[in-house]
Amino acid sequence: MTSSDDPGTGSPAELGPRLPSPLCEVPDGRFERHGVRLLLKRDDLIHPELIGNKWRKLAPNLRRAAGRTVLTFGGAYSNHLRATAAAGRLLGLPTVGVVRGEELAGRPLNPSLARCAADGMRLHFVDRSVYRRKNEPETLAAVLRAADAEDAYVVPEGGSNSAAVRGCRALGAELAGHADVAAVACGTGGTLAGLAAGTGDGVRVLGVPVLRGGFLTDAIRELQTAAFGGPRGHWSLEERFHFGGYARTTPELEAFARDFEQRHGVPVERVYVAKLLRALVALAEEGAFARGSAVAAVITGRPFPEPHAGGPARRTPDPAP
Ligand SMILES: Cc1ncc(COP(=O)(O)O)c(C=O)c1O
Repeated sequence: MTSSDDPGTGSPAELGPRLPSPLCEVPDGRFERHGVRLLLKRDDLIHPELIGNKWRKLAPNLRRAAGRTVLTFGGAYSNHLRATAAAGRLLGLPTVGVVRGEELAGRPLNPSLARCAADGMRLHFVDRSVYRRKNEPETLAAVLRAADAEDAYVVPEGGSNSAAVRGCRALGAELAGHADVAAVACGTGGTLAGLAAGTGDGVRVLGVPVLRGGFLTDAIRELQTAAFGGPRGHWSLEERFHFGGYARTTPELEAFARDFEQRHGVPVERVYVAKLLRALVALAEEGAFARGSAVAAVITGRPFPEPHAGGPARRTPDPAP
């Protein structure tokens, strides 16, 4: 641990993550009546601010940044931007958030961006066409120049680079031998790519994309090839539960999430985790899981703002993670 007068640019391990994260069985008749056990993999309890897959993806990148400014990308409500900003504050690393939507620069910050700014993140707003092209080398170089962050360590949108994917392998390893099916919500697919590599072939890994589009299978293959040299694990995607797309919801999904919170006392993050849990209940009812099997749902996040701080986040749809 760094000394108390040192702002700290060391390893995230100094922050005392709770690893392995707890794995709890919860009694739920919707699974039990099909002879299936429901387990919750509480990655939301790893760290109070670097929550869930954010810890698993950011920790290896923060180590690689080795004290340099960390620059990353996100939409106006990005969980990833908030986690990066919090990590910067906790470890004494400067952070820059490149935010999609130049028009937002002239408006009051929403609660998510306000939290980023309060954690010391410098926000740099770019228009949507630049944002779309941010992975092209020339555009990225121009963005870094404009943000006055040319020497920064760059983490991609959603945090899913090879280091992050390899970081998520430990999640799979923690589940191996405890679950027959491991299920996770997918945005970029980076968490699933690492998880499936960590479980080995003995666990069936199920991804529930929260975006529409059907492009994720190829993206996950590419992430696994970049991180591990080829495909890994036994995984598939269940594409029916995006509820209209990223950050979209329906009254039925909202009621489902509230009911799940009341049944199990677990806060349900709405953009990703609610869709995952809804998918698992539907699949159990369809008989998709063998009798006697244990299904582990990875709880990758927590609602923002926290329910006690004004209720689950309500917002307009936002088209990408
Ligand atoms: C709470 C939560 N769950 C799941 C995901 C999906 O992760 P990935 O982009 O690795 O698929 C995200 C996005 O980062 C997230 O914020």
